[in-house]
Amino acid sequence: MKATAIAPANIAFVKYWGRTDDTLVLPSNASISMNLSACTTTTTVEFNEAFKEDEVFINFDAQDFSRIQGIKMQKVVEQLDRIRALKKVQIKAKVYSKNSFPAGNGMASSASGFAALTLAGISALDIHLDEKDLSILTRKSGSGSACRSIPDGFVEWIDGDDATSYARSLYDHDWWDLMDIVVVFDSSTKQVSSIDGHKLAWSSPLYKARLEQVPITIHNVRDALRTKDLTKLGKAIEAEALSMHAVMMTSNPPLLYWSAKTIECIKALWQWRKEGIEAYVTIDAGSNVHIICEEKEKDNLMDKLSRFSGVIKTIVNKPAIGARVVEKHLF
Ligand code: PMV
Repeated sequence: MKATAIAPANIAFVKYWGRTDDTLVLPSNASISMNLSACTTTTTVEFNEAFKEDEVFINFDAQDFSRIQGIKMQKVVEQLDRIRALKKVQIKAKVYSKNSFPAGNGMASSASGFAALTLAGISALDIHLDEKDLSILTRKSGSGSACRSIPDGFVEWIDGDDATSYARSLYDHDWWDLMDIVVVFDSSTKQVSSIDGHKLAWSSPLYKARLEQVPITIHNVRDALRTKDLTKLGKAIEAEALSMHAVMMTSNPPLLYWSAKTIECIKALWQWRKEGIEAYVTIDAGSNVHIICEEKEKDNLMDKLSRFSGVIKTIVNKPAIGARVVEKHLF
């Protein structure tokens, strides 16, 4: 009873920030994202009657796997429990999980992690769910945005109630040759997890205004994806990311995920745009900057970034397929 799945992280063009229900993980607003080809998590789950307890091992940075504990472990066990409940079994599991990118610094490692865990878990127990139900189960994991890593390519997570809030593909991964160049300034773990951050959203005086704006942004981003209009998409996603961070910064207590390098990079990108490079910026709950462009601008941007100080590394992503089961196990 062993299975392995790979799932991509995703970058939100329209962000999910704040929930209407913490237990069911229902978002306050719909969101749209793109799956990332170079930021993936591979997870193997084995259920075995001989196991006395659940054990979870993750490779945080190097090759070595270390056993996770505390709140992270609790979230994984809760998701294993949801999977076991579907099959009405109580068999313990061993889980190995490997990231292709730094975890826990606003790079959606929890999204790819919980998507891979959920798909590997149901496959190991031979549970068959359609994509909608799999995304709903993944949504409940605690990292809501993980549900967007299940379908292919460009994905919308619909807000709604427990039965209707799910993720679906708007366009396949090969619809548009967009790129997300992640500029990594800091690969240390972020100070406030997004799980805690969502709870603070409602304390910001700007949150209500943001929630009024999001449906308009969703409409514009959907339209820009349909017509492959980079200028329209870029303007919408930049304003959208700044809106989410304005809410974060004005929460009580305030959340400031940016570093000095984040601001420097945004300003540099705006200057490069004036010089004719068409690229736009978005930022999740971390200090790293995601540059969204078409493939034809990649070399120009990589050249500029190679001369930008403080960059630890860059990760070049294309749109990717969603979570899938693979044959090769991690143990
Ligand atoms: O899915 P969570 O609970 O890890 O929250 C994700 C929040 C953001 O990354 C900031 C936005 C998003 O929609 O991905």
